[in-house]
Amino acid sequence: AKVAIFISGRGSNMAALLYASLIDDCPYEVCLVAANDPEAEGLSIAAAEGVPTYTLSHKGLARADHDAAMEKAARDAGAQYIVLAGYMRILTEGFVANWQGRMLNIHPSLLPKYTGLDTHARAIEAGDSHGGVSVHLVTEELDAGEVLGQVAVAIRDGETSDTLAERVRYAEHQLYPQVLARYVARESDPQFLLQRVRDLAL
Ligand code: GRF
Repeated sequence: AKVAIFISGRGSNMAALLYASLIDDCPYEVCLVAANDPEAEGLSIAAAEGVPTYTLSHKGLARADHDAAMEKAARDAGAQYIVLAGYMRILTEGFVANWQGRMLNIHPSLLPKYTGLDTHARAIEAGDSHGGVSVHLVTEELDAGEVLGQVAVAIRDGETSDTLAERVRYAEHQLYPQVLARYVARESDPQFLLQRVRDLAL
């Protein structure tokens, strides 16, 4: 399956997804890395690896126009899935609807806990034993779609949100490629295909 990865910054999850895709038998390939910030560091990583990139600053554009251009870039690249990896934009309803069941996001908390920002600080503040990371399907409501996979990361005494974030990031880099691979591979599962045929027949 072809996937377009949307980023806004460092792109470490994008890099993890990209390198995993180069391992034998990985069921997805990265056909595009797109960013809303021309300075996003991840763009140069993708370009260096020979992956096509697309950049369009959101500044001065209506949200719907920016989304439409990003979506066109993904479609032109042949993307069947959109993978959000540190993409710091909220997407329009129409965009989300077009990619229903085909757009994934990674969120640095054990959802449904701590949607939104500052997740690590909030987990530490609450005295939680674990922080963590979730990969979920994107739906209209922020960070609320079906969770496809999670890793819990223990919070140590004296943990700061920076030290926790760094360790959660290691977990993110393991989780995201695995979950994406499993998710796209379901399309070759006979049960899944059968259900598809049934859905179409209804
Ligand atoms: C990650 O912590 C991810 O969970 C969150 O944004 C961060 C992106 O980091 N959604 P990177 O750009 O992948 O390094």
